Amino acid sequence: MTKNYPTKEFIENLPKAELHLHLEGTLEPKLKLKLAKRNKIAIGQETIEEVQKSYQFDSLSSFLNVYYPAMNVLQKEEDFYELAWEYLKKAKEHHVKRVEVFFDPQAHTSRGIKFKDVINGYYRAIQNSSELGISADLIMCFLRDMSAESAMETFEQALPYKDKIAGIGLDSDERGNPPSKFFDVFKKAKEAGFHLTMHCDIDQENSIEHIRQALFDAKVERLDHGTNIIENPDYVKYVKENNIGLTCCPVSNGFVVEDMKGKEIIELLEQGVKVTVNSDDPAYFQSYISDDLYAVAENYFLTTEQVVQLVKNSFEIAWISDEEKVEYIQLVDAYVDSFNKVKAI
Ligand code: HPA
Ligand code: ZN
Repeated sequence: MTKNYPTKEFIENLPKAELHLHLEGTLEPKLKLKLAKRNKIAIGQETIEEVQKSYQFDSLSSFLNVYYPAMNVLQKEEDFYELAWEYLKKAKEHHVKRVEVFFDPQAHTSRGIKFKDVINGYYRAIQNSSELGISADLIMCFLRDMSAESAMETFEQALPYKDKIAGIGLDSDERGNPPSKFFDVFKKAKEAGFHLTMHCDIDQENSIEHIRQALFDAKVERLDHGTNIIENPDYVKYVKENNIGLTCCPVSNGFVVEDMKGKEIIELLEQGVKVTVNSDDPAYFQSYISDDLYAVAENYFLTTEQVVQLVKNSFEIAWISDEEKVEYIQLVDAYVDSFNKVKAI
């Protein structure tokens, strides 16, 4: 049988789930300028080009050094609402049907913003997402370069809003900040009924040990990034057998480690691991989910079947009911069938 390769159009219109996206990473230069003006924040940039020029990084830490200061323009509940709503509209353009998005409350509370303004703004957007044909949930992340005590305080602040948060994650600078630093708070989160995930960033010091801690000690349901797992066949077998998915972000990887890790994504896919493709911080990497999927497809010659499997994996590891998973996968199959029929005419 001849191999079939996907076009950009096929990928854009494919129904998708986005499982690795930081809401703060969707701050487009245009919105940054608008919010800076509205909140009278001096950011030292006046044009979209100037903001874009400041988005320069070649490692996770240099990215984070640009990412956190930019958040100063987010001040009021309405700003958080607008950021999330603008993202959701963009997600609709990319035919995203399900989103599970990260947010970083400590990046805001540490600058004097109230937790309630962050969560209420984001949640209002999430609640309205059905208007766009999108089902959405929030994942609250702890910043791993802050203390375990700060994570615990944040968790306690979040408890009154428990119904508005589906899961707990861990992000920011992994160097010297292993999952073990946050075991207590993750244990509490699990007992309180939250879903759990953690970033295991690419090519970190002690990557494999961090992956071990996340999987076997913290017992997370997903790994964010996590492709270094390929170095340990036993862990690969474990995630496969336990339906633990990996949320990979190839374009982001290309920026921070100069390698999209497409080879690893394909190898894991071929081994039957639930790897998925996502966009991470699309405003900074100028790549939304369809662009990420197309980038791996184009650079690593993925077949249509492989791209469709990546997308189905996302629905399979999403935090939704089994019935919903079946419905979304049927939607994908119906799309592929109709695309093939049009092509055959
Ligand atoms: N890794 C860690 N922290 C982050 C990331 C990431 O990919 N994106 C935004 N914060
Ligand atoms: Zn991330």
